Amino acid sequence: MEQTTMRFPEGFLWGTATSSHQVEGNNSNNDWWEWEKEPGHILDGHRSELACDWWNRAEDDFDLAREMGQNAHRLSLEWSRIEPREGEWDDDAIARYRRMLVGLRERGLEPMVTLHHFTNPLWLMEKGGWETEAVVPLFERYVTRVAEELGDLVELWSVINEPNVYAILSYAGSRWPPGKQNLLLAFRVLRNLLLAHGRAYRAIHRLQPQAQVGIAHAVRVFDPARPNSRLDRWAASLPDRIFNRLVLTALTEGVLAFPLAFNRKVPELVDSVDFLGVNYYTRDMVAFDASRPGELFGRRFYTEGAEMSDGGYGEVYPEGLYRLLKWLAAYGKPIYITENGLPDEDDDQRPRFLLTHLAATHRAMQEGVPVKGYFHWSLVDNFEWAEGWSLRFGLVALDVETQERTVRRSGQLYKEICQANAITQDMVERYAPEVLDKLFPAQARDGPFG
Ligand code: BGC
Repeated sequence: MEQTTMRFPEGFLWGTATSSHQVEGNNSNNDWWEWEKEPGHILDGHRSELACDWWNRAEDDFDLAREMGQNAHRLSLEWSRIEPREGEWDDDAIARYRRMLVGLRERGLEPMVTLHHFTNPLWLMEKGGWETEAVVPLFERYVTRVAEELGDLVELWSVINEPNVYAILSYAGSRWPPGKQNLLLAFRVLRNLLLAHGRAYRAIHRLQPQAQVGIAHAVRVFDPARPNSRLDRWAASLPDRIFNRLVLTALTEGVLAFPLAFNRKVPELVDSVDFLGVNYYTRDMVAFDASRPGELFGRRFYTEGAEMSDGGYGEVYPEGLYRLLKWLAAYGKPIYITENGLPDEDDDQRPRFLLTHLAATHRAMQEGVPVKGYFHWSLVDNFEWAEGWSLRFGLVALDVETQERTVRRSGQLYKEICQANAITQDMVERYAPEVLDKLFPAQARDGPFG
């Protein structure tokens, strides 16, 4: 029987991930709320509004997560609620987060807490947001306050969510606030985010020496469109260096390796992560294109004929997770998959997605990669930034009007996986028989021990 079961180690964390603005509702004191008001910013004019109403009823979804067999949950705290005006703390907001964290623990869900997930207090944006180094001590003060107030309930901190994505989409792009479209500024913002991470890392450890403090880092696979072309290989290596590697080099070696600049040593950043949290969604093919200096001389596209998720969000490429995990192992840190998922409203792909991505994870683990937990994005459909409510990532479907929840088939499958702490042949046969041969090759199934 063993040959047709992929078992995960005891104590493996099975959870889902969410972020404050995407689920809480009425986050009216941050930059996204303001941004959503402007026509043209969010697809179809959607707004986050009540979102999933977590400020009032997060516990209902925690109940669901528990019923679904999960033992962990990654959530984020909203800086604009905790510090609504510079230097002023909202005790009610802190108390609400305390209740949420207690609620998670009472249900046997280990919390992983993120302190910055794309949104910023309005007062901070008026001071220039992440553009100047002035943000670094402000972030440190906020993190210190949170660790003092809530640290007794949190052992796992994924301090900043996707500094690379935030810097690029908000500062080099036009669709996320403040939409500055300035690549140099984006690098400055990324640098300040990393410096802030370093300060937060030390601040949390001063208060909680035993805590595990890491990051949730977005990684993508960048493959050359024509593997034999040196130019394509070069064009694919640039985003790999800047998007995937730069943040990790900074937080492990303490070296800021920005393009066209001298490497700068930042001693405070040396070894400033206890674990690597990785968010994996998809891969890009890259072809050299001299006419695109602004895109690092690469034309990026999805593999022709590949399976795509809803809205052209990305190629479904489970092998990419295996490849990235094997590469990340070289950093010598425990790894959590802090996000992985796809938009799939009718849920015709998600069951297979779950099985193939978890099988890829299992394979990497069999080869020695120290993955400690998996957080699927996401528990319930939530506000998907500039795409509004058009992309549905939940294991649980949400009717935004009525707030009604319906567990999707994939949610049922995930429950079985979490409860069994394993993927079995039987699950694959029932939920995605088309990948049975891939996940459990016939020899293993039919062999003398099958
Ligand atoms: C972000 C989430 C987002 C998800 C799906 C991640 O990059 O951290 O906030 O909802 O991707 O697009």
